[in-house]
Amino acid sequence: MQSLSSDRVVLVATGGTIAGTAARPQDHVGYTAGALGADDLVAAVPALQGLPLEAHTLARLDSCDMDHATWHALARCLAGHLARPEVAGVVVTHGTDTLEETAYFLHRTLRATKPVVLTAAMRPATAASPDGPQNLLDAVTLARRGTAAGGEQPQGVLVVLGGQVLAGAEVRKVHGYRVDAFACGDAGPIAVLEDGVLRRFRAWPAPPAVRADVLERDPATWPAVDIVTSHAGARGAVVDALVAAGARGLVIAGTGNGSVHRLVLDAARRAEAQGVRVWRASRCVLGGVVGSPPGALPSAGPLTPAQARVELLLDLLAAGSAASA
Ligand code: SIN
Repeated sequence: MQSLSSDRVVLVATGGTIAGTAARPQDHVGYTAGALGADDLVAAVPALQGLPLEAHTLARLDSCDMDHATWHALARCLAGHLARPEVAGVVVTHGTDTLEETAYFLHRTLRATKPVVLTAAMRPATAASPDGPQNLLDAVTLARRGTAAGGEQPQGVLVVLGGQVLAGAEVRKVHGYRVDAFACGDAGPIAVLEDGVLRRFRAWPAPPAVRADVLERDPATWPAVDIVTSHAGARGAVVDALVAAGARGLVIAGTGNGSVHRLVLDAARRAEAQGVRVWRASRCVLGGVVGSPPGALPSAGPLTPAQARVELLLDLLAAGSAASA
């Protein structure tokens, strides 16, 4: 019988290493991501058995192949579950490689008055010591936090990995192999989960001005927005080629504080002259772009290039809606 209290958690699996299988327990690379479904992930965590938990498999992607159609389907699926009164929160299992992009997209498109908790793993499910089961348990614990006696209700899009609770709007993957692969830079974690006990250091994320309208638009019609990296020996031809291929927006992952190679900058100006929106971000691991000198390309501010790409996409969609209204 379905529980009538608001204590249900909905798990939506999208693939990733957390659902990956390898030939041997010692293999942490060279596995197949997304081989397992949501039920398999739940079955691997004894502490989840008996909890009011629904498990759905939405995709089985290696997240390096994440696409707009899956984002659209995921966000709509989550919005539907969040609207159910019996649901306390939702958990998304995801690959680590583009988790920060999906987290930012969900942060900007979902009214997350209940917790939307993303989790992942750096080791496949078949590893001798997989990190996925603990991460999943922590994610469900956080999503159900408001149902515990005296438990405060988290809100917003959150990421749980390696015992850290990170803001979906700020999180970055900062290591390619270690199990504590994510960080929020200068902001630090919101909280940590220690043996199921939450120790919170700062406020839950304030809800942003959410662009839920985007979810009404067919993702096949979303404008193309690409990222170009500026580097020693960079060529403007990359920018020209993307514009010729239909890019409506470009984010330049600039050096340092968002500086851009002169040849890329010349090409960016040509792109702007054709109506393409071009922003500059920083390719540095930490920090963003500070200040906006006269004549510089528009700055993405604190956003990473990947986050700026989402923000520019949303901006172009809004401009498109305004133009067609
Ligand atoms: C992926 O992103 O799907 C594979 C890598 C990972 O999850 O760590």
